[in-house]
Amino acid sequence: MITKRVLSGIQPTGNLHLGNYLGAIKNFVGMQNDYQCFYMLADLHAITVKVDPIKLKENVLSTAAAFLAAGLDPEKNVIFCQSQVRAHSELAWILNCTAKLGWLNRMTQFKDKVGSNKEKASIGLYTYPILMAADILVYKATHVPVGEDQKQHLELCRDIATKFNNDYKNNFFTLPEPIISETVARIMSLRDGSKKMSKSDESDLSRINLTDTSDEIAQKIKKAKTDSEPIDDKIFNEKSIRYEAQNLIKIYSSLKSEREDKVIKEFEGKSFSDFKKNLTDLLIEKIHPISDKIKDYRKDDSALLKILNNGTDKAAEVADKNILDIKKIVGLKL
Ligand code: ADP
Ligand code: TRP
Repeated sequence: MITKRVLSGIQPTGNLHLGNYLGAIKNFVGMQNDYQCFYMLADLHAITVKVDPIKLKENVLSTAAAFLAAGLDPEKNVIFCQSQVRAHSELAWILNCTAKLGWLNRMTQFKDKVGSNKEKASIGLYTYPILMAADILVYKATHVPVGEDQKQHLELCRDIATKFNNDYKNNFFTLPEPIISETVARIMSLRDGSKKMSKSDESDLSRINLTDTSDEIAQKIKKAKTDSEPIDDKIFNEKSIRYEAQNLIKIYSSLKSEREDKVIKEFEGKSFSDFKKNLTDLLIEKIHPISDKIKDYRKDDSALLKILNNGTDKAAEVADKNILDIKKIVGLKL
């Protein structure tokens, strides 16, 4: 029997937002009963750009608190910090020697992140998808829940696993399947419906943070960009360019776990200013308990560290065994 094993991670780079929650963490929570799950704080990925060491540690703790507050049970899941399990870095080097330069050159996230400043980017930012492949393959994970922006990295991971298996004439790695929720694959910025909601957006008005107060949520939704048309069933037509309208409906439907067409029926003919009131109430209802719990978990950082240390032990048990097998396959075990 093949164990259904999940691995996913989030970079501890600041406050988590609604996109992270609906696109990734909500899925993590949904999988915890049916899969063996490993969820990590990808701090090695976070240092691919310049980061203040004190802030990094703070972000590891706040992201761990958000995982727990969103409903991840540390008894059911292995929750850990990437840098504490050495096998990730070891496998990343080996896979650097398997992957091809041409494959990395196709990665759109790197191109988007560096823009015209490519020469100044760190090598780590460039090879980051290889470390991500190592994160997944060192556990031989079968399923990886992520938002749509990570899909290309998952495809690369499958290419690397296939090449490794061919190069060494074995079937050591299973090919991981991405799990991408269709409705909330990409939550967009509240200020610009063509850009994804992101921690790195300069404007805080562009996103709902999991730690926002009710007033902040109300303010941000009030200022969220929409159009002057009423809500109708053409919003999701193929030719529709009502991106901001689509985004708000998607957020509502996903938070309510209701189909988009049902939401549109409920609000048909109403203006977005009416809809925004309902959306604000729903956001407050869903986000508030999470932000309260984040605050509670942060009252005792030593308990958080204990959970992470416990996770490190459990993760290392699996990863250390696999890296040893991989080293034997490659000829690195004397
Ligand atoms: P950010 O771009 O805000 O820094 P991360 O890169 O840390 O977010 O993403 C963490 C997880 O959240 C990934 O699985 C990613 O695909 C998902 N995610 C990030 N932003 C969004 C979004 N706007 N919509 C849906 N999922 C998202
Ligand atoms: N690169 C992912 C992001 O920025 C985080 C991540 C690191 C990850 N390693 C992973 C996600 C392994 C899934 C699997 O969002």
